[in-house]
Amino acid sequence: MAKRPSSQSNPPNTQPRRVAVAIMAAGKGTRLKSKHPKVLHEVGGKPILAHVIAAAKQVVPAEDVYAIIGHEADRVKEAVASSGVQFILQSEQRGTGHALMVAQKPLGGYDQIIVLSGDAPLITPATIRKLSEFHTAQNATMTLLSAELENPFGYGRVIRKSPKEADVAAIVEEKATSAREKKIREINSGFYVFSAADLYTHIGDLSTDNAHHEYYLTDMAEVFHRRRKKVVAMKTSDPGEILGTNTRAEMVELDALLRMAKCRQLMSEGVTIYYPETCVIDSDVAIGADTIIEPFVQLLGSTRVGEDCRIRSYSVVRNTQISDGVTVLPGCVMDDSAIARAAVVGPYSRLRPGSEIGEGAHLGNFVETKKMKLGRGSKANHLSYLGDSEIGEGVNVGAGTITCNYDGVHKHKTVIEDGVFVGSDATLVAPIKIGRGSYIAAGSSITEDVPGDALALGRARQTVKEGWAREKRQQRAAQKAKQG
Ligand code: UD1
Ligand code: CA
Repeated sequence: MAKRPSSQSNPPNTQPRRVAVAIMAAGKGTRLKSKHPKVLHEVGGKPILAHVIAAAKQVVPAEDVYAIIGHEADRVKEAVASSGVQFILQSEQRGTGHALMVAQKPLGGYDQIIVLSGDAPLITPATIRKLSEFHTAQNATMTLLSAELENPFGYGRVIRKSPKEADVAAIVEEKATSAREKKIREINSGFYVFSAADLYTHIGDLSTDNAHHEYYLTDMAEVFHRRRKKVVAMKTSDPGEILGTNTRAEMVELDALLRMAKCRQLMSEGVTIYYPETCVIDSDVAIGADTIIEPFVQLLGSTRVGEDCRIRSYSVVRNTQISDGVTVLPGCVMDDSAIARAAVVGPYSRLRPGSEIGEGAHLGNFVETKKMKLGRGSKANHLSYLGDSEIGEGVNVGAGTITCNYDGVHKHKTVIEDGVFVGSDATLVAPIKIGRGSYIAAGSSITEDVPGDALALGRARQTVKEGWAREKRQQRAAQKAKQG
């Protein structure tokens, strides 16, 4: 909706030419009792601020979104830099009004400024757009998003000019409310739209004459009202959207809301999620239709799951690409890996970063992999460690096979070509290559390359001492008889 400056004049009640979104995110978040900045705490699997930025970017282009940062600014910036938004430094945090004061240089050139709270992650692009359009249609100087709450405690209250009039005369912070004002259930959500010219003409009127000795942005309502400029409130139909995260308890409630909303969205797209309240699915995860997610599954980060998969209980999957028709049996842990079509993984498989499981391949109980390619139709079903290895198609990796990839200083690679049969309990000491179609005898320690179609044995020859146990028993019996 933001339009570039044009040479045409701007008649009233049409879209403003230049719209910026300012996100206030400089505060410390004292009430969280945390060493980390409030806006970097995560809900729904990503920082609170990242949610607000994502919503803002759907309303105006990233270059018109400004995050006002201060407390631990470098960390905050780094965490959301990839979003492409601009940053404004408020090095001393002297209140929400002060946050907009320090932003005057970059924001003063816009027509309209939408102000969002960096600590309220449920706000939707639709509501931001509506607020901006309402402001324009009302020809207002300041518009705030308000909500009617059962329990308004802690929020700023919206003071209407008179019961008959829609216009707002002031916002009163909880600490300054009179007994009568405490009963007002219409609260200030912390989202606003300003006419930029008016804001920066009058922002100097703010004072710090209040309980926190801060410049309150909320006081602009009274400043404008006194100057007979129009201040209006748009009441949201969904008070859930404006919830903030001032405390740990609020944060956890929001997280639960976000996760349930995510599950509902996925279900509406054709995914079955049993006991969704037990599942943890991050905001950016995508899942195809007819996939079934069992209870207590975690799908995190940028994980993608295809269609017709079944993810069984207690698996924790992070940043992993799972193709169509894959079965993940209970208790698997995966990070930064990829599983091709129709593969079966688990129960209790551990895929560390860089594991690629081929089409129709099987990875079974207590198998740990890292930087490993398992070819199409290959199987490693029991109790193995497969690291830094490239395993071809149709390979059978026997129970207990270990790739010895580490010599204490360097990591080395194991290559197992197509159709190889590795017997149980083989140790393959890397760097090593097992040629196409060859066999490794069970219990072998393989230290040299094996050519194709060969049989490699790497173990001591078995010796059998016949009658050894019988003689031992007889000796013992004789000894006992002597003593007795
Ligand atoms: C604010 C409003 C209150 C409203 C509530 C809604 C004020 C004075 N009060 O209170 O009317 O009901 O939000 O949730 O604005 N911030 C800065 N720089 C600062 C101070 C704060 O960037 O100097 C940021 C914070 O990081 C936060 C946001 O502004 O993201 C809001 O500040 P916060 O202290 O949480 O305000 P509330 O007490 O919630
Ligand atoms: Ca807040």
